[in-house]
Amino acid sequence: MKKKLLSVFLCAAMAASLLVGCGNAASTGSESTGSAGGSGGKVGVAMPTKDLQRWNQDGANMEQQLKAAGYDVDLQYASNDIATQVSQIENMISSGAQVLVIASIDGDSLGTVLAQAKEQGIKVIAYDRLIMNSDAVTYYATFDNYMVGTKQGEYIRDQLDLDNAAGPFNLECFTGDPGDNNARFFYGGAMDVLKPYIDAGKLVVKSGQVEFDQVATANWSTENAQSRMDAIISANYADGTKIDAVLCSNDSTALGVTNSLEANYTAEWPIITGQDCDVANVKNMIAGKQSMSIFKDTRTLASKTVEMVDAIMKGSDAPVNDTKTYDNGTGIIPSYLCEPVFADANNYKQLLIDSGYYTEDQLK
Ligand code: BGC
Repeated sequence: MKKKLLSVFLCAAMAASLLVGCGNAASTGSESTGSAGGSGGKVGVAMPTKDLQRWNQDGANMEQQLKAAGYDVDLQYASNDIATQVSQIENMISSGAQVLVIASIDGDSLGTVLAQAKEQGIKVIAYDRLIMNSDAVTYYATFDNYMVGTKQGEYIRDQLDLDNAAGPFNLECFTGDPGDNNARFFYGGAMDVLKPYIDAGKLVVKSGQVEFDQVATANWSTENAQSRMDAIISANYADGTKIDAVLCSNDSTALGVTNSLEANYTAEWPIITGQDCDVANVKNMIAGKQSMSIFKDTRTLASKTVEMVDAIMKGSDAPVNDTKTYDNGTGIIPSYLCEPVFADANNYKQLLIDSGYYTEDQLK
């Protein structure tokens, strides 16, 4: 009986959430899904943007799993605008959230608002991206970001058979937003694999751009990656010189690189890496335009985060499996690192369709 009442309440609350969501979006100009849920306490979930498919999935999975666990959920998207995210978090604090789950836009911009949260005893879980220089962060739930990078680097190493083939091979590199701490881990992991081959002359970066700041992509934007690739091609590959591989830290940058190659490049198609298994990129993988993407099952990350929320609400310790890697400037943040895997044209069906992540139709 109690269960039945709860589910009736949840349904009503979900319907209410849609209405509240529309209201908020209109009045603040931000992307919002509003608040609703159960009775076990209130959780604020702050996501960076709806522009990238993965954050929509993260938000939806978090909301669904938190509600199923009996919590009220206030899920907000901030259109990649830092001030919007700060004010959304302020609202979550003033409306009684007990736990905040935050995927930051800029890891360094939340210190002040999170100091308020700490003062009020609100716990903070950094979701996917580490929040820097704030002692208000209790836990970090993410995928193993360094491993994402090493897997991308290893994919290029293995596909080009760098240990045996004569080479040299041409490589270009793209990573993400400098304000996202993850970007340094992704790029660092990939470079730990590839740099020895660059130093040995087996891999050649004709643009000369290998330092993090040179290969970073503001906002992880497809357009920014595309215009940088346009410039690289016109300066180095316009005469038909082959590019053997393009290291892209994620799918939005891979899409920009692919668009640029389609418009400007005439030689044999390179190996292109990615991350997130966004629908557009999986379609490109099937069509032979992107070689691989790292698959980070957002359902797994959401369920680990819900376990953390649950533990906090019950006053116990949350499950963590890493207590040495992620120092946010105030000390090590106890972390749970989920394991990423790589998807390509050979295994995507098993990973993405058989697991129920996508339907076959979504990838047509
Ligand atoms: C996430 C990636 C994502 C990127 C751009 C990173 O912090 O870990 O999965 O592709 O942000 O949104």
